Amino acid sequence: MIKVAPSILAADALNMERDIARAVESGCDWLHFDVMDGHFVPNLSFGPDLCKAVHRRFPELPLDVHLMLDNPEKYLATFAKAGAARITIHVEIPGDVGEALRTIHSLGCKAGLSVKPGTPAEAFAPYLDACDLALVMTVEPGFGGQSFMAEQMEKLTALRRMGFKGLLQVDGGVNAANLPALAAHGLDVAVMGTAFFRAEDPAALVREAHGL
Ligand code: DX5
Ligand code: ZN
Repeated sequence: MIKVAPSILAADALNMERDIARAVESGCDWLHFDVMDGHFVPNLSFGPDLCKAVHRRFPELPLDVHLMLDNPEKYLATFAKAGAARITIHVEIPGDVGEALRTIHSLGCKAGLSVKPGTPAEAFAPYLDACDLALVMTVEPGFGGQSFMAEQMEKLTALRRMGFKGLLQVDGGVNAANLPALAAHGLDVAVMGTAFFRAEDPAALVREAHGL
């Protein structure tokens, strides 16, 4: 079974509540928040206030916060207080990755670690026991609607070879066409932005992912 985490980066910004309510009705598992600072990635998205508002309105929906920030350590407590169930940081940050992962756990959240396409799976090696989830980016992070980078799937099998026991997640260009190959590589959680929010029938997409 592959869980589905719709990315609200692809939702209608002027109809966010409507789109998130539709996501909940579709049977999705989490809601993915792509937080961008314009430095770590060349785009700006949204902050903790939106996270807090969504958590207040949809308290049962686990919020999966993906921090594409140079200095995520400055915002961990803020997003935890805003209602994040999970907080994912990037291994490429200049700060102390291990320390940040420990802080996420101390705040009562699940900790995730992500790599950009140009970073090898081996970068996870020092943190295999320090995080609950590994997020393999299947696009260059910063924008939704890009093409899926299939060669990144090898990192999923590499992580299992390295002994990683946590959840395997991908983000970027995921759609119904590439889900079977992702399932064959052991995927646990699919972040879907464009494919989900442009789908005729998002519930059918969720059912398909759940059936793999
Ligand atoms: C980073 C973002 C996007 C987004 C998914 O760029 O993380 O990958 O969530 O967007 P889609 O599914 O539209 O590629
Ligand atoms: Zn993301």
